[in-house]
Amino acid sequence: MWTVDAMPDLAGRTAVVTGANAGIGFPTALELARHGARVIVASRDQDKGRAAAARILDQAPGGHAEFERLDLADLGSVRAFADTMRSRLDGLDLLINNAGIGMIPRQTTADGFEMQLGTNHFGHFALTGLLMPLLLVRPGARVVTVASDAHKFGRLDFGDLELREGYGRMSAYGRSKLANLLFAFELQRRAGSRLLSVATHPGVTATNIMKLGPLTGVLNALLRVAVQPAEAGAVPSLYAATSPDIRGGEFVGPKLKKPAISAAARDEALARRLWTVSEELTGVEFRDLVSR
Ligand SMILES: NC(=O)c1ccc[n+]([C@@H]2O[C@H](COP(=O)([O-])OP(=O)(O)OC[C@H]3O[C@@H](n4cnc5c(N)ncnc54)[C@H](OP(=O)(O)O)[C@@H]3O)[C@@H](O)[C@H]2O)c1
Repeated sequence: MWTVDAMPDLAGRTAVVTGANAGIGFPTALELARHGARVIVASRDQDKGRAAAARILDQAPGGHAEFERLDLADLGSVRAFADTMRSRLDGLDLLINNAGIGMIPRQTTADGFEMQLGTNHFGHFALTGLLMPLLLVRPGARVVTVASDAHKFGRLDFGDLELREGYGRMSAYGRSKLANLLFAFELQRRAGSRLLSVATHPGVTATNIMKLGPLTGVLNALLRVAVQPAEAGAVPSLYAATSPDIRGGEFVGPKLKKPAISAAARDEALARRLWTVSEELTGVEFRDLVSR
């Protein structure tokens, strides 16, 4: 069984990890730094992001971690982050689209998108497109998108992207995770051999996202001791980001098994349509990739 000890030396590689200050993102960023990568801790909260970068430097002596502010629920912030990366980096080897929000009451992003789809999908779609020039100059660059088994209860209705009617916390989360999978697979089809795009399902993991769900405090507490720790949830992302055995377009799950993929997530016409709609709504186009 693959473990983080099998990760290669990442000296000279640069990685951006979104949501690296907490949950699954923190051990993902920590292990990348421990193995020599320069890690950008991309977080929406300055204090939490700086503290996480400091913890990484503490736990990975000689490592390199730096905070940069990124709020995926605000396309202005996504653009500012990408501008900073383009001015500071000469290439990007790993983009880990990890950050996520889940199972919250209906809210909207700064740009008016339903919050779960806006943060988990539109924010990462725009970020990936804006960072594409940095990724494409690095041979073997990888984009890892953290999706979920929860994609199975997601449905995409382009006539009601705002979910103004009949909003459900879980169904909105499932929809955003379905969009993550459709995006990861479509990115691979458009990128061809120029980069690897891989999706992951971490498995049920004790992180803050669970506190936001509809469970009560006691049930949340029980669940948190019954499920795997964040370090285990990071393993699929770290495997997808660094294993030589991975192929583009794969979906990696807990214990590195291949989770079932719903018919909707395999639907190439749906993926193409989501891509077009995402380009229109975010104003970010992937000009360097093949159009389909
Ligand atoms: N935990 C599970 O059981 C599970 C299962 C399947 C999939 N996943 C996926 O795993 C990923 C990581 O989640 P987690 O479980 O580690 O949850 P978490 O502990 O809540 O961490 C989520 C991270 O995303 C960040 N984030 C949220 N909204 C953001 C925004 N607008 N801009 C930038 N960053 C933002 C959070 O920042 P703050 O600290 O500022 O809130 C935090 O750093 C998510 O994509 C989630 O859908 C988790």
